[in-house]
This record gives sequence, C-alpha cells and structure tokens, in this order.
Amino acid sequence: MTTASASGKVILFGEHAVVYGRPAIAVPVTELRARAAVTDAPPGAGCAIVAADLNRRLPLADAPPEDPLALIVRLTLAELDTAPEPDWTITLRSDIPIASGLGSGAAVSTAIVRALAEHAGRPLAPGVVSALVYETERLHHGTPSGIDNTVIAYEQPVRFVRGQPPQRLRVGADFWLVIADTGVASPTKLAVGDVRRAWQADPAHYEALFDRISHITEAARQAIETGQVTELGPLMDENQRLLAAIGVSSPLLERLCVAARQAGAGGAKLSGAGRGGNLIALVTQHTAEGVAAALRAAGAIRVVVTGTTTDGE
Ligand code: MEV
Repeated sequence: MTTASASGKVILFGEHAVVYGRPAIAVPVTELRARAAVTDAPPGAGCAIVAADLNRRLPLADAPPEDPLALIVRLTLAELDTAPEPDWTITLRSDIPIASGLGSGAAVSTAIVRALAEHAGRPLAPGVVSALVYETERLHHGTPSGIDNTVIAYEQPVRFVRGQPPQRLRVGADFWLVIADTGVASPTKLAVGDVRRAWQADPAHYEALFDRISHITEAARQAIETGQVTELGPLMDENQRLLAAIGVSSPLLERLCVAARQAGAGGAKLSGAGRGGNLIALVTQHTAEGVAAALRAAGAIRVVVTGTTTDGE
C-alpha cells in the first residue's frame, strides 16, 4: 500500500482580486489534511476510487468525464504513462470540510496525484502536481486563479499572481490564526460568478476595489517577510471591508469577525470565496483560546488554530 496526503490552505489576503490578475497570499494549513492510499487490486479489476467518508465506490471505467476525482486519476495515469489501466484501488479520506474555502477539492486531488506517483515509483515535482490539479479546479469553477492548487502542491506560504511562477514567502516571525467555520457551504463557483457579473456591470468600480486589495496584499507581504506581525491585523480588517464592498461577505461572517476582534484578535476577515465558508482571525498564542471560544459562542461550528512559522533561512 502507498499513502500520501496534502494539506488544506487559507488565503490570507487577495481572494477574488487574484482572479483579476492581482496578487494574493496563501499559506498551507497542515493541521487539516486529505489522504489517499493506493493498493493493488486483483488482475483485471481495473482502477476504482473509494471515497471512504462518503461510502462511495467509483470504478474508473464507469465514471463520467466531468467527475473531478476520475479526471485527476485519468490525468495522473496519463502523466505517469501507466496504460493500460492498472489494477489499483485508490481510497480517499479527508478532514477538510468541503465548499468552505479551505481548498478541500485541491487537497484531495493533490493527495491522489502524490499517491499514484509514489505507487508508480515516479514522484512528480510540485509544479507538475499543481498543473494536474489545476485541471480539476476548472471543473469546480470555470475561472480559477490557480492559487489553491499552487499553495497546496508546494505546501509553502506563497505570493501568487495568476499565470506567473509562485513566489515562496519568507516568514520573518511566527504568526497564529484561528480559522472558524460558519457552517454555511459556499461553492466557489457561485461567488466567483456573482463577482464576475458585478464586475461586468461596473468594471471601473470593481477594478478600483481590486487595486485597493492589491495594495493591502503587498503591504501584508512586506509585514510577513519583515516579521511585523501586528501590522497584519489592521490589513485583514481593511481587506474584509473591501470584500464586503465586493459583495462576498454575509451577516454571519461580519458577526463572527466582530466577535473575534472583541475577544482580542488583531484583525479578522473571511478567507476564500466568502458568503459562508471560513474566516481567519489573527491571534497570539496568548489570545488564541479566548478568540476561539468567542467564535464558537458566536456561532462558528468548528475552530482550528494554525501557526505559520519561520523557515529558519
Ligand atoms: C478561492 O479559494 C479563491 C478565489 O479567489 C477564487 C480563485 O482564486 O480562483 C475566490
């Protein structure tokens, strides 16, 4: 048996604007993982995908082309030159909630690519993994920027601009986030589609909002690299105000952001597509517990504390 895993992710700054060519910053969330295991099946059995959490078994031969799990398996087998179809069973498990902005789709796909490549004895470089996973992201929503597959395949903090090689972010000082789940599933496709329609109706207004987000993202990048962690809080609050202006916040997200700030968070914002999904709050090791409790009391259904630490360079 060969096993592999992939982390979740959070976008710290720049979601939505990144679809329109502006920079964004994202970090892996190693506490949340998707896992794939590949085992040999009896000769002639072919390939099958078993989604253990969903109690679902899908023989590859029966899967429609638009099935994202089947697509990533087919693309990876082609990349690995494993024709004819090998007799392998791929079993999946994930503790990353779906449609919540934490990159669950990209993480499951990444775990599949890694496990298949390992099982074939041909590990693939992160850039290749990322490009394969990007193809499945296109099924989830038509115009993905590519940030999810990038941060998850490289599993490092990144500054990302669509169409450019990702830049690894040097982290000057450790910082801590509470990630809180609204419990409201929010498919990325819907929020991204609504923003696109609004942008088409009033491009000048939306371009100006994206430019302001871009300035915040670049200021945040500098703060992260130089270790000025406390500067990130006000930048998160400002990014949140602009996301609300774009139309992707919600009364629940706003309420949770207020609760986090009142409990001592340095700043708070939604993370990902918005409307629901998760928010992030900047904390210290000292304030994390209180902020997490306040978020739960204000309605968050699940709370995770994650740290992004210096890489020692
Ligand atoms: C989704 O995780 C982030 C968005 O910016 C969409 C994308 O970048 O493709 C909302």
